[in-house]
Amino acid sequence: MPVVTEPFRIKVVEPIAHTTRPERERLLREHGYNLFALPASTVTFDLLTDSGTSAMSAAQWGAMMVADESYAGSRSFERFEAAVRELTGFRHVLPTHQGRAAERILCQIAVQPGALIPSNGHFDTTRANIEFAGAEALDLPVPEATHPEVEIPFKGNIDLDRLAQVVRDQRDRIPFGMLTLTNNSGGGQPVSLANVRAAAGILHAAGIPLILDACRFAENAYLVKMREPGQEGRAPAEIAQEIFRLADGCTLSAKKDGLANMGGFLALNDASWAARGRHLLILTEGFPTYGGCAARDLEAVTVGLSEVLDPAYLAYRLATVTWVARGLDRAGIPTMKPWGGHAVFVDAKALLPHIPPGRFPGLALACELYLAGGIRSCEIGSVMFGKVGEDGGFRPASMELVRLAIPRRVYTQSHMERVVEVCAEVAARAESLPGYTMVERPPFLPHFTARFAPEANLPACI
Ligand code: F0G
Repeated sequence: MPVVTEPFRIKVVEPIAHTTRPERERLLREHGYNLFALPASTVTFDLLTDSGTSAMSAAQWGAMMVADESYAGSRSFERFEAAVRELTGFRHVLPTHQGRAAERILCQIAVQPGALIPSNGHFDTTRANIEFAGAEALDLPVPEATHPEVEIPFKGNIDLDRLAQVVRDQRDRIPFGMLTLTNNSGGGQPVSLANVRAAAGILHAAGIPLILDACRFAENAYLVKMREPGQEGRAPAEIAQEIFRLADGCTLSAKKDGLANMGGFLALNDASWAARGRHLLILTEGFPTYGGCAARDLEAVTVGLSEVLDPAYLAYRLATVTWVARGLDRAGIPTMKPWGGHAVFVDAKALLPHIPPGRFPGLALACELYLAGGIRSCEIGSVMFGKVGEDGGFRPASMELVRLAIPRRVYTQSHMERVVEVCAEVAARAESLPGYTMVERPPFLPHFTARFAPEANLPACI
C-alpha cells in the first residue's frame, strides 16, 4: 500500500513550544497535576481535544472574508442553511455557537422533568443538559462497548433489544431517542447504517423521533464505508446523507467535522419544535439567521461541511489515527479496539495494573506523557466519571482511558512519530509510574479543576 499523504500543503505555520523536563515537572506541580490547568504555551503536542482545533483551509478563510455580517437575513446564513439542508435533509436549521447550545435548546423544547432519553452513549454535555431538564439520560451501548480489547466493527451501535424493551416499557416517558455518531464517550466508535436504520425503525414504530448527535458524521460515514458490507462502493457524502435522512433532527457541533473553530446547529423536521427553538434562540443565542455565530463562522462551517466529506481528506484522517494506534500497538501499549475516528484511546487500566482505579491510572499516564514529551492528552476514566457514594466509598468508572485526540489537519506525520516515540518510552517503564490522589475535589466536573498529587509526594498514611 502506498503511504497515505496529507492531501494539502501548508500555507501558514504556528510555532509550538519546546520545554525541558525540569520545566514541565515544575509546571505540572504548580498546576496541581491537572493538564486542563496548563497554559497551552507550555504544550508541544496538544491532543487534549479535536474540538475547535482544526486548521482551516484557504477556501474557508476566503469565504470568511466575503461573509455578510447583516443582523437579519444575511447571505451567509442563506448559504449555511442551504448546505445544512443539502447534507441533512432537515427542513429547519437553527445556528448555535456550539453543540451544547443546540442540546440545551432541544432539551428546553422537548424534555419534561421525568422524561427518559435513550442513546447509544450520551456525550457528557448532552447528559448534563438532559439531567438539568430533570430527565434521565440512558446509555444503551452494545455489551462489547465497555471491553477495550474486543474487536467488532461497530462498537458504537445501540443495543437494539434493550432499546426495543425500553420503548415497550416506558414509551410515555420518551420524547425522542438519540444516537451519537461516532460515540465519543465509548471510544470514538462508529454506528453502522444498519443500526441507525433499525433504531429509527423501533422508535418510529412507537411514534418517537430520532435525533442524531452528529458532531463526527463524516468520520462515521467513512468508517461505514470501510467496515459495513455493501457500503464500500459509496461516497462518504452519500452515506452521511442517507443516515441523516433516517432521523428527524440533529444537534451538531461544527467544531469537529464542521472543520471550524466555532459553530454548530440544531436542525429539525418538526415545524412546531423549530418554532419554539427559534424563540429560545432569539432569547439566548441571537437572531435566527446568525444564532450564536458571526456570519464568518457560518461561512467557515458551510465550506467545512463539504471539505470534510472529501474522500481524500477522510482517507488521510483515518490513516493518521490508525498509524498512531498501530505504532502504540507495536510498542505493546493496549488501546481501545478497533481504532476509531478522531482519537486513539489508551487503556490505562491494562497498561498500569499496579495503579488501582482510585489512584487514577489514566491521570498517571496522562501526566507522564506530558512530563516525558510535552504531550497533552485527556483522561477519560475515574477522574471524569468516578463517583464518591453517600457512604464516602469511591465508585470507579467502567474504563480507565487516556484519549489522544488528533486535531484535524494540524500535525504532520513527524509530529505523530514523536508522539508514538514518547508513548513507547513511557510504556517501557510503566511499572515505575506513581498513582495520584485528588487533593482538591470541586463539586462538579472534577476533571476541569481538581488538583492532584503523585503518591510518591504524599505522606505514607494516605
Ligand atoms: N457531542 C459530542 C459527541 C461531543 O464530542 C461534543 C464535544 C459535544 C456534543 C458538545 O459540543 O463542545 O461544541 O458544545 N466534545 C468535545 C470533546 C468537547 O473534546 O470531545 P460542543
